[in-house]
Amino acid sequence: MKAVVFDRFGEPAEVLRILDVPIPEPGPGQVRVRMIASPVNPSDLLVVRGLYGVLPTLPATPGFEGVGVVDKVGPGLNLLGRFALGKRVAVINSKGGDWAEYAVIPSRQARPFPDDIPDEQVASCFVNPATVLAMVRHVLAVPKGEWLLQSAAGSSLGRMIIKLGRHDGFKTINVVRRREAIDELKALGADEVVAASDGPIEEQVRRVVGPDGVKYALDPVGGDTGTALFRSLAAEGRLILYGTLSGEPVQIDSRLMIAGKRVVEGFWLGHWMPKQSIPAALGVFHEIANLIRAGVLATDRGTAFSLDAIGEAVREAEVVARQGKVLLKISER
Ligand SMILES: NC(=O)c1ccc[n+]([C@@H]2O[C@H](COP(=O)([O-])OP(=O)(O)OC[C@H]3O[C@@H](n4cnc5c(N)ncnc54)[C@H](OP(=O)(O)O)[C@@H]3O)[C@@H](O)[C@H]2O)c1
Repeated sequence: MKAVVFDRFGEPAEVLRILDVPIPEPGPGQVRVRMIASPVNPSDLLVVRGLYGVLPTLPATPGFEGVGVVDKVGPGLNLLGRFALGKRVAVINSKGGDWAEYAVIPSRQARPFPDDIPDEQVASCFVNPATVLAMVRHVLAVPKGEWLLQSAAGSSLGRMIIKLGRHDGFKTINVVRRREAIDELKALGADEVVAASDGPIEEQVRRVVGPDGVKYALDPVGGDTGTALFRSLAAEGRLILYGTLSGEPVQIDSRLMIAGKRVVEGFWLGHWMPKQSIPAALGVFHEIANLIRAGVLATDRGTAFSLDAIGEAVREAEVVARQGKVLLKISER
């Protein structure tokens, strides 16, 4: 089969290659999936650069999520695997490996999805949608009517948060690095959008929400932007750091944490999801399916590439002002 493989960490367009490798065999408790499609997410590219929290032994194949059809079940009882055989599933691959014609994953991570949800939505149904629900509804539990401040608001995930705000009744104040994104995000339902280039973010935020600042904030950028979001917090406000898009550290004024009771915490879906009970995890997937149908957690489709065009695909995924999520189209259903 064809697989995208890297044998050293580095710039994705330079180190990723297409190789012919043996089709993998599922072991006990596993299934094999014939892959249909898989998105290019920031976390996939961090892995290839050797900058992610957990790294594979090399050589490795990237790809944390995707969609495919279960074509073989590993030996043993494997009830979940047998149930999924022949079904179209979300391919949740916490070790990576979805950028290939076949992937082997634990049976419990092959999630059948209702037929009315299109393949391209199932391909991106986990990494961003589950993170949005976990951070906003479960960890911060943002109440109706409150402000939620977020940066990189034009990202796929940021757009989902804007739409979730409309759906759940909280207000969003959104930070973007390009002024051109302002009108687009307002049209999507953003209550306020501020551009980092228009002056100190914390001052712009307080002009909108009042002098106290915000109680809830989410930052995937770090550096000056993450620092400004921290400074935008009200007393007892909470900032979740969930990405490292700038590669720069956030500066924290300890006095604001000690006497001012501001809280900063990290979030990683890879830690949060395994802590959920089986019913709670099923509940998350049920919420996701309903909110994809409602358009709230739907992913905007970007350009699709074949596995052979992996170099172009990973370059396109990091173009400034790119529209929609880049998708690797691997086979027909
Ligand atoms: N912790 C977790 O468990 C978890 C789970 C899922 C996602 N994430 C993180 O969530 C973030 C968004 O993911 P995504 O898939 O939605 O990304 P995406 O669709 O690829 O969008 C990336 C966005 O980030 C903006 N951006 C990139 N570099 C930036 C910088 N240096 N400063 C400011 N803005 C910058 C881009 O702005 P332009 O529009 O101007 O180009 C774009 O809007 C990523 O950091 C990802 O790793 C974390």
